Amino acid sequence: MALRTILEYPDPRLRTRAQPVTRFDAALGTLIDDMFETMYGAPGIGLAATQVDVHQRLIVIDISPERNQPLTIINPQILTREGEASTEEGCLSVPGIFDEVKRAAKIRLRAQDRDGNLFERDFEDILAVCIQHEMDHLEGKLFVDYLSDLKRERIRKKLEKERKERATGATATGAGPPAGARRAY
Ligand code: NI
Repeated sequence: MALRTILEYPDPRLRTRAQPVTRFDAALGTLIDDMFETMYGAPGIGLAATQVDVHQRLIVIDISPERNQPLTIINPQILTREGEASTEEGCLSVPGIFDEVKRAAKIRLRAQDRDGNLFERDFEDILAVCIQHEMDHLEGKLFVDYLSDLKRERIRKKLEKERKERATGATATGAGPPAGARRAY
């Protein structure tokens, strides 16, 4: 297994629309294992292939505190949406930024697992939110797209400044909340 580099906003590669997964082979298995390792290491509770510059419709998620409930979602399709929930979201590709986004509270999902088997399942709460957030990544969309232009511009400038400081060896300030307080995906 290997850690993959997570692309960060405003990297234009995050705007790529992912293609369906058609080959359920060993290479896909390796990619999935790498994505879990990268997500756990970040640490995060979800990761879309787009975020590691692989433009296939593949998502990994684990919201469990023990990090032992891995969920692999391939070629996802939302069949039904119910209700509305506003959640403070964070994203591994927009580090240190958290803001409220409104999404469906419950979804019914059809997808394939890592062996290509089709499944249908209902999700709610943070899992439903996380899946919708990751599915946006597959469309080249980020949670900051739901915020005002002004906010998004502020976020872009802040992240670019932090990246520049990191590159010049200066200590990054405001490195974000302590691990576990808020979750990114
Ligand atoms: Ni994200």
